[in-house]
Amino acid sequence: MSDQLAQDAVRTTRADVLLASAGERGILCDYYSETAAEIYRDIMDDEGEDPAASSEAEVFASHIPAGSAPVLELAAGAGRLTFPLLDLGLEVTALELSAKMVATLRTRLAEAPAEVQARCTAVVGDMADFAFDEQFRAVIISPGTIAVLDDAGRAGLYASVRKHLAPGGQFLVGVGQQNPSKAEPLERFQDLTGESGRKYMLHHERWFPGDEEVHDITIYPADEAADPFLICTHRMRIPNMDRIVRECEAAGFDVTVQPFAGKLPEDVLLLKASLRGDS
Ligand SMILES: C[S@@+](CC[C@H](N)C(=O)[O-])C[C@H]1O[C@@H](n2cnc3c(N)ncnc32)[C@H](O)[C@@H]1O
Repeated sequence: MSDQLAQDAVRTTRADVLLASAGERGILCDYYSETAAEIYRDIMDDEGEDPAASSEAEVFASHIPAGSAPVLELAAGAGRLTFPLLDLGLEVTALELSAKMVATLRTRLAEAPAEVQARCTAVVGDMADFAFDEQFRAVIISPGTIAVLDDAGRAGLYASVRKHLAPGGQFLVGVGQQNPSKAEPLERFQDLTGESGRKYMLHHERWFPGDEEVHDITIYPADEAADPFLICTHRMRIPNMDRIVRECEAAGFDVTVQPFAGKLPEDVLLLKASLRGDS
């Protein structure tokens, strides 16, 4: 797979400063690109036990209609949420854009009991444009993850989901609420230590143009003399829930919104959408 995301990386204000001082050592890439996959996995550590993920899986499972069709998890990463869903006995197809993430998920799966392996399929794919030969009783996106898509990507997502929901199926999406007055500062630095022991710096900046919340993240080695000096950036345009509801309704879904609950903060909501006219 070509690494388009590495070329399309956003030049955040922090990346600008770093690139100017790193000169030819500086390499800019998107945090979710193949180029950054090693750093992403080092930092995210989404391969261990995660009590929050178990709680998320329980919340999602409580909204999945009964039936024999499998569940589709979109943008599954290395399986942080996938494995807790499997632990609940569900049959899961996990779709993820990054081939390296899918490879990690498959490696983890190979260590699981044969009965669990038989209930999981991991595929490389784009959640903005996917096609399967089967339908699903639920399509799930973990809290916050819909923000990786832009407007056109979300339009493609809704069109793809429409084609893949089994009768009575639910489209379930966790969405963080926009909150300019949150105690969190608008700009902050944070030291990070990867699973490998390597040290990184995270710069996080957010602002509120129009009805969306924009987050720019820049992650780079704490050792600014590193060669090469990989600067990983990502811009998340978090659409507010009203906008996602309007988009889903325009795309032909009936929608309800409720607190996500479980172990997630109060400002995380659950969008439940079903095909209009589908009872
Ligand atoms: C915030 S992580 C979430 C991973 C996982 N769902 C979790 O909860 O830990 C976002 C994931 O979305 C993936 N991603 C980004 N754009 C995507 C797309 N268009 N289609 C599928 N996956 C995508 C990234 O590679 C990354 O693994």
